[in-house]
Amino acid sequence: MIPTKIYSKKSRLKLLIIIVALVIGGATVVYTNLLVAKLSEREQQLIDLYAKGLRYMGNAEIDSDNLVFVQEEIIDANRSVPVILTDEQENVLAYKNLTIPEKISEKRKKALLQREVAKMKTQHKPIVVAYQDDFRNYIFYKDSELLTQLRYYPYVQLTVIACLSLIAYYAFSYSRKAEQNRVWVGLAKETAHQLGTPLSSLMAWYEYLKASPRFENEPIVEELGKDVKRLEIITERFSNIGSVPVLKDEPILRVVENAIGYLRNRVSNKVSIVVESDFPPETTAKVNVPLFEWVIENICKNAVDAMEGKGSITLRLVRAGAKDALALDIQDTGKGIPKTKQEEVFLPGYTTKKRGWGLGLALARRIIENYHQGRLFVKSSEVGKGTTFRLILNR
Ligand SMILES: Nc1ncnc2c1ncn2[C@@H]1O[C@H](COP(=O)(O)OP(=O)(O)OP(=O)(O)O)[C@@H](O)[C@H]1O
Ligand SMILES: [Mg+2]
Repeated sequence: MIPTKIYSKKSRLKLLIIIVALVIGGATVVYTNLLVAKLSEREQQLIDLYAKGLRYMGNAEIDSDNLVFVQEEIIDANRSVPVILTDEQENVLAYKNLTIPEKISEKRKKALLQREVAKMKTQHKPIVVAYQDDFRNYIFYKDSELLTQLRYYPYVQLTVIACLSLIAYYAFSYSRKAEQNRVWVGLAKETAHQLGTPLSSLMAWYEYLKASPRFENEPIVEELGKDVKRLEIITERFSNIGSVPVLKDEPILRVVENAIGYLRNRVSNKVSIVVESDFPPETTAKVNVPLFEWVIENICKNAVDAMEGKGSITLRLVRAGAKDALALDIQDTGKGIPKTKQEEVFLPGYTTKKRGWGLGLALARRIIENYHQGRLFVKSSEVGKGTTFRLILNR
């Protein structure tokens, strides 16, 4: 009834949002990298100039007028790029723009500077300053703090934004789920409540008729009794889903047998329903019987629909997983579910039937996962061959 298109629309919207986010993220990174490249180039120029200044100073006449100018305007102008000047053996002669604690011993200071030189070496090749009298100095340098920060900034920013979006998404979907829960529970409670009154009166009438000699040996009374029983079961289901259901250790094989009893009487005799078990018959599992029966009924009804009135359904209690959990596999020989739809079938509103509401499996999963702390999923399915649903329970 409800078009299943809403789900494909929703996933397309999600895809679109992800693409937009990726484009924005990518653009931020690319743009900052551009800035980094430009700044890096500028720092390179600054260092080149610094090296030229040093060379000039080394080669100039001592009393040259330009010396002061070069010292102040070129050498001192570098206030951001950390540099270390060394001799040919890499002994530190001078350094600049490095934060070296003042109150440390000469030895430690030297070690510290030597480590800086090693670090700088990995970033940039040193600049050689050759002097007239045939000796050389090396200028080691590394990226300024600003440049380093700028390099990592977009990643930090994007990580923060991603974390925030994730939190927002979870908060939002949590509140949406809570809202859905209230609708399910409220509607179920109200239905159970409204059914209650006429049902108890019907029951009284049935007891009255059964006892009345006028209707002795009337098959109608028996039929009426069955319908009243069925109504009672339905009311119990709604009332259980509208409250915190009580789970009890129940002989699981018998519960399964009982659950399909109702269906067996209603499907054509071309559909065979078999129950098998790997467990001893008295094995128990923690279930709420009215809700659990509802689940089995929903899954089996779907199986009957999928087989179009001819085939076999096998319900098998098996051991599953490492913990030897108890699982119920429900296998049919119906039309199968394509791989891409095997998760989607559990969404409320997803149906391929003319008269379906798409609620059967949504409800079944809800009952198993929320009320029984178990799991329900499509174990395997092949189009044209059949489907197996697996239901895992706590023991
Ligand atoms: N055993 C199965 N084999 C093949 N397809 C299945 C099977 N079980 C479910 N489906 C598919 O999953 C869809 C959703 O099932 P679900 O029980 O949630 O809703 P529905 O049966 O369509 O409607 P209703 O609310 O009446 O149960 C079905 O319409 C069908 O396409
Ligand atoms: Mg169904």
